[in-house]
Amino acid sequence: MAAYDYETHEYDVVVVGAGGAGLRATLGMAEQGLRTACISKVFPTRSHTVAAQGGIAASLSNMGPDNWQWHMYDTVKGSDWLGDTDAMEYLAREAPKAVYELEHYGVPFSRTEEGKIYQRPFGGHTTEFGEGPPVQRTCAAADRTGHAILHTLYGQSLKQNAEFFIEYFAIDLIMSEDGECQGVLCWKLDDGTMHLFAAKMTVLATGGYGRAYFTATSAHTCTGDGGGMTARAGLPLQDMEFVQFHPTGIYGAGCLITEGARGEGGYLTNSEGERFMERYAPTYKDLASRDVVSRCMTMEIREGRGVGDEKDHIHLNLNHLPPETLDLRLPGITESARIFAGVDLTKEPIPVSPTVHYNMGGIPTNYWGEVLAPTKDNPDNISPGLMAVGEAGCASVHGANRLGSNSLIDLVVFGRAAAIRAKDVVDPESAVPTPSKRSVEAAFSRFDGLRYAKGHVPTADLRLEMQKTMQADAAVFRTEKTLAEGEEKMKDVAGKLEDLHVTDKSLVWNSDLMETLELTNLMPNAVATITAAAARKESRGAHAHEDYPDRDDENWRKHSLVWFKGNEASLGYRGVHLNPLTSHNDGGIDLKKIAPKARVY
Ligand code: FUM
Repeated sequence: MAAYDYETHEYDVVVVGAGGAGLRATLGMAEQGLRTACISKVFPTRSHTVAAQGGIAASLSNMGPDNWQWHMYDTVKGSDWLGDTDAMEYLAREAPKAVYELEHYGVPFSRTEEGKIYQRPFGGHTTEFGEGPPVQRTCAAADRTGHAILHTLYGQSLKQNAEFFIEYFAIDLIMSEDGECQGVLCWKLDDGTMHLFAAKMTVLATGGYGRAYFTATSAHTCTGDGGGMTARAGLPLQDMEFVQFHPTGIYGAGCLITEGARGEGGYLTNSEGERFMERYAPTYKDLASRDVVSRCMTMEIREGRGVGDEKDHIHLNLNHLPPETLDLRLPGITESARIFAGVDLTKEPIPVSPTVHYNMGGIPTNYWGEVLAPTKDNPDNISPGLMAVGEAGCASVHGANRLGSNSLIDLVVFGRAAAIRAKDVVDPESAVPTPSKRSVEAAFSRFDGLRYAKGHVPTADLRLEMQKTMQADAAVFRTEKTLAEGEEKMKDVAGKLEDLHVTDKSLVWNSDLMETLELTNLMPNAVATITAAAARKESRGAHAHEDYPDRDDENWRKHSLVWFKGNEASLGYRGVHLNPLTSHNDGGIDLKKIAPKARVY
């Protein structure tokens, strides 16, 4: 192995990732005086949160009656009763506070005539515990809400003297012999130097792993780096079978067309010009939950009513909306439709198809963001020194399906929660742990092995094989056969990691090596997805199993866990948290309201 010199940095907290969750955690930690470093492989304001369009859910009641209990009910139903009740209560209750904080930090939200934060309807968000009309709950900055939030949080974090290490790639977590996380080893991409960040608390905010699939709205940087590092540290990944397909990715290009488009009055049609959602979801129609809409679109295409030469996509119509509404509320997608679909949406429909968008699963945590290392006796056992927030984590607030605009609110509520918790568990006066030599050497050894990999398979070829397999076999609809075949194929694909070939051995701006490291992170995420999907013999949320079309609460209302030994995956389960944080007598939700029932929109 080559000899690697490295510089050691010591912090109270190191946050890996500078998207919405990473920046909100960084800001919160720094505000309370914890010495905080934020490491990012891209410039913070280029993190994938920048692509979030439609908005952030919070029951502000600016456009009509709303309250946190209705929001909680919708989240529970959206999750298809797999979310943890305590985490879902925390999200819905804290959401208004978290949004007003953003407003005060300077997020330039769109405004109503009275100057309040503008809110639009989004799929699955309703009133009266699902009995009333859709609610306008999604707070928006036109259709560039993520962009507005990210820039504001970055500025505020700098103001609080958080330190940023930009274009540093996290290689592996550093773990003590007894399982405490002591920091992370990083590679500085622009000069090839190595950096060991020792910290009392490491927060993974690395986003999702959309790029395990061939077509995704996710940026190419969404490679599940936190999940990969966690799996290698011997900790499980949770509920990975639940992969969200957004109904409206631009056909072919995959770019997101916000659900806000339907919120503002857009609707879907098939080749017969029929507004088919009226048939499937008579009450909420195009504003049903997005797993439902994606499945209905897929059924229309399968039954020969898709549009285009190959009848393989659907039309999203916005040309009936006043041009002023498009200018004011949807300027971003007006531009995306023109650039990526060649469509003037004042005149023509946009060709769209369901596209991989979000991972409900991730690193299991409690609602404070503390990572769990479940044992037989204690499914909620905490793994010391490690937190995970945002799409990388699984609190589990979205269960089997996330509602649109519950992602941005998840980022800020749980990024903020991690900082609140750190106040109690990180002692600024204590010594920073001395990183385990064995763990540092293991991280260098893995890095060096990949740098000098002399096998036969180029990284790009293996990545494509993985993406095509996942796209075909862990799709919107799944069967016993596709899942079994997919599981076998993915074992074979993952096995080829041992036969990788890396051409460029340099350390400065070596994208070949960086993409190889990313592939080693994507792979456990992908394998966990198909393994857990093949095992789950029911349909729930985004997991639509054609051989088991019904939800089976008796046997399957439980979280899947997947551990790794090398490329070998093993499965386990933990129970769903059924208790809320607040009892009904103390102002909490009436549990009868959120009891499982058929999920219809
Ligand atoms: O459709 C959108 O604007 C996406 C929002 C989300 O995924 O929460």
